[in-house]
Amino acid sequence: MSNSLPYSRKDVDYDNAKFRHRSFFKVITQSFLTSNRKRDCISCSTGKFLFLILIFGVAYLMLTHDTIPSRVVSRDQVFGIRKNEDNNSSTHDAGRLKKFWRRAPRLPPQLPPDTKVSTNGINHVPATLDDKSLWITRQQKVKEAFTYAWSGYKKYAMGYDELMPVSQRGIDGLGGLGATVVDALDTAMMMGIDEVVAEAGSWVEEHLAQRISEKGQVNLFETTIRVLGGLLSAYHLSGGEKGMNISHAGPNPSVYLETAKNLGDRLLSAFTSSPTPIPFSDVVLHDSSAHPAPGGLSSTSEVSTLQLEFNYLSSVSGDPKYGMEAMKVMEHIKSLPKIEGLVPIYISPDSGQFIGQNIRLGSRGDSYYEYLLKVWLQSGTSSDKNISYLYDMYKEAMNGVRHRLVQKTVPNGLVFVGELPAGKDGAFSPKMDHLVCFLPGTLALGATKGLTRKQAMANNMLNSEDLENLKLAEDLAKTCYEMYSVTSTGLAPEIAYFHTKEFSEQGHDGGNKSSEYMHDIIIRPADRHNLLRPETVESFFVLYRITEDLKYREWGWQIFEAFEKYTKIETGGYSSLDDVTVIPPPKRDKMETFFLGETLKYLYLLFGDISHIPLDKFVFNTEAHPIPINLKK
Ligand SMILES: *[C@@H]1O[C@H](CO)[C@@H](O)[C@H](O)[C@H]1NC(C)=O
Ligand SMILES: *[C@@H]1O[C@H](CO)[C@@H](O)[C@H](O)[C@H]1NC(C)=O
Ligand SMILES: *[C@@H]1O[C@H](CO)[C@@H](O)[C@H](O)[C@H]1NC(C)=O
Ligand SMILES: *[C@@H]1O[C@H](CO)[C@@H](O)[C@H](O)[C@H]1NC(C)=O
Ligand SMILES: *[C@@H]1O[C@H](CO)[C@@H](O)[C@H](O)[C@H]1NC(C)=O
Repeated sequence: MSNSLPYSRKDVDYDNAKFRHRSFFKVITQSFLTSNRKRDCISCSTGKFLFLILIFGVAYLMLTHDTIPSRVVSRDQVFGIRKNEDNNSSTHDAGRLKKFWRRAPRLPPQLPPDTKVSTNGINHVPATLDDKSLWITRQQKVKEAFTYAWSGYKKYAMGYDELMPVSQRGIDGLGGLGATVVDALDTAMMMGIDEVVAEAGSWVEEHLAQRISEKGQVNLFETTIRVLGGLLSAYHLSGGEKGMNISHAGPNPSVYLETAKNLGDRLLSAFTSSPTPIPFSDVVLHDSSAHPAPGGLSSTSEVSTLQLEFNYLSSVSGDPKYGMEAMKVMEHIKSLPKIEGLVPIYISPDSGQFIGQNIRLGSRGDSYYEYLLKVWLQSGTSSDKNISYLYDMYKEAMNGVRHRLVQKTVPNGLVFVGELPAGKDGAFSPKMDHLVCFLPGTLALGATKGLTRKQAMANNMLNSEDLENLKLAEDLAKTCYEMYSVTSTGLAPEIAYFHTKEFSEQGHDGGNKSSEYMHDIIIRPADRHNLLRPETVESFFVLYRITEDLKYREWGWQIFEAFEKYTKIETGGYSSLDDVTVIPPPKRDKMETFFLGETLKYLYLLFGDISHIPLDKFVFNTEAHPIPINLKK
């Protein structure tokens, strides 16, 4: 039995990080096979032998170069037997080796003076976009898409975590708690689809408690953000704690709360089993035990993306234990050394220390930065001085992002956020996961605290740092939009690289020959999948609310139309794709829970009335489940 879940949300199938370059055999055999010196060596056996020694030496250097202690490497990782590894990873290892041969001197990131990029992708927003009825119609289309997605799931996969729409069956990729049901529930409430609320609500009432008491291993983070978050938001939206009461279908709200408490009690074992405040990554539900991930490490984003949910559970249950455990993580991380607020993507529950040097805002890093801001916002900002350290950490980190991670592309000056895979003294990598597209929304939210830009300006609330962050938010949102627009399908790849002064790569474009950014954005073959992810439309939603600029609605509509055109499955549901650069795009046969929980919800809110779930009264957890701001003290 495998010890790890089939996937974790932040690294679905294509794990672009974890220990890949530590695969001995692959590094050695691949670099040997791909090296063009091979031919020369065939005729000279001494040379061949020396070359082998050289390769071993380089491999050894690369391995020792990495600071992750070798004791945490499991056998599978050493031998490169990773269940989800794609077959083209060799290109990465070979590429890494090549980079090692001629490691470019690290130049400090800098913004070139040319500012060709205009934040307006659409130069003139047609007057018709201002038409109210247009957006009512478009919002209705999103609602229909949600109903279609739900019906497909209900028909083939009810009670499973996810639908495989092409094979027309369900799959438990997240531990078997019916994750799609719970993720979709509050979206149905917000859209006012009583029938779906009743179906999903009854399933929760009839099955979820039993599942929770019987199921085995789940990932703490995934279960918290999707299932616990979904239950808590459903509780509030259906009238719990005198909340919104927007939905009168489904069970009594107390059902959601009781289920959430049951789940929360079991998840707490991840904290209480650990010798430090850093929780283990996995929990066994039926016996409330917990253990570390294979390899022993937790992801930084995973341990720091639990606090909104646990705090709110404490608030509504009246039991402080949940929030206390979760907040210890933040207090502990506060005391750890950072690089201008930026942190490595692994942390050890054993030592409590960060592990390795890899810094990025993509997978395993992303929502750490998001929750620094949102947990502070949740507390009602000014009311609790004890929590303002989080906002300070957030501001420091965003300064670090601007200073160390932001660069512009050649030739057209798109602004993007890259990575520091070898830490502050290592080379800059012009790689950006689609996951990083959460950042524009977070930056904008952090600048105005959920008010519109107009309101914030009128209240004199924006200092120069806020304005800089807001500008960066708009520039990055534009880049995220172009990551869609540059492909043949109009859908973004999972990962993009960017052409800069120091970095270029020929022959890997997105396929849309009329895109002005074809030469700015590089899409490698292994990165061309699309998982129906929400981050870009999430940022458009937040930016539309804050700037009131209609272009974000229009961009969101274009993305929605591309989803409709290329991901809708005739027999029911929507499917993620294997390659967004070819038409027709091959299907990946999975409808992720976040398509219903997040992507369609954010599109619905983007096209809807701005007073619906206002950003100064709610924070959205990282799975788009809204949680009310300002806990009762
Ligand atoms: C990788 O290659 C193996 C053997 O050639 C094959 O069985 C497997 O399906 C391939 N996996 C992917 C993701 O292409
Ligand atoms: C929600 O509203 C309905 C109808 O207005 C009412 O009957 C119900 O009691 C309310 N539920 C809660 C939990 O307030
Ligand atoms: C703030 O922290 C102090 C000292 O740690 C503590 O005594 C106090 O109760 C805290 N206040 C709140 C509102 O949590
Ligand atoms: C290709 O790029 C052009 C120019 O930016 C844009 O108008 C068009 O919508 C793009 N095509 C797709 C499929 O996104
Ligand atoms: C692997 O590479 C081959 C040839 O370059 C390509 O046809 C195939 O689609 C790639 N597979 C993946 C999973 O990227």
